Amino acid sequence: MQRLDDTMKLALRNNICYLATCSKDGVPNVVPMGLVEVLDDSTIAVVDVLMNKTRKNLAENDNVALAVTDVNRLVGYQFKGKASVVSAGEIMAWAGEFSERKHEKRREHLISRLRSETDLERISKIKKDG
Ligand SMILES: Cc1cc2nc3c(=O)[nH]c(=O)nc-3n(C[C@H](O)[C@H](O)[C@H](O)COP(=O)(O)O)c2cc1C
Repeated sequence: MQRLDDTMKLALRNNICYLATCSKDGVPNVVPMGLVEVLDDSTIAVVDVLMNKTRKNLAENDNVALAVTDVNRLVGYQFKGKASVVSAGEIMAWAGEFSERKHEKRREHLISRLRSETDLERISKIKKDG
């Protein structure tokens, strides 16, 4: 896989990615993945919590592509490489903690968005009521 620069790392960490796999017969499959982290300049981790066909494909064909659009910068990237499935050891503990952290971050983001939407509703109500 190509070396990841800082803008690529930022895009991968802050956006939904699309993971493409392929069966041994060449049938493609592409799905959204949010639990994505850059481990080093040429390794990307994708945490499996709900994979089904993806997992089956990986067992028979290790060729993958991962696509992402940085929605703030309006640039997109595609990364191609070979996947290794890791299901034991230190990386599993990291994956658990990483999923929890991401989940918590998303929850906080949602709460603050709902708060600001509620604030906006309140402000427009105050304006309407005079
Ligand atoms: C926004 C979004 C992010 C997702 N992130 C992940 C993820 O990081 N890991 C995962 O295993 N599933 C994730 N999923 C769920 C899979 O995309 C979904 O279960 C998919 O159907 C799996 O398809 P498959 O059977 O082709 O593997 C996500 C779904 C959405 C909509």
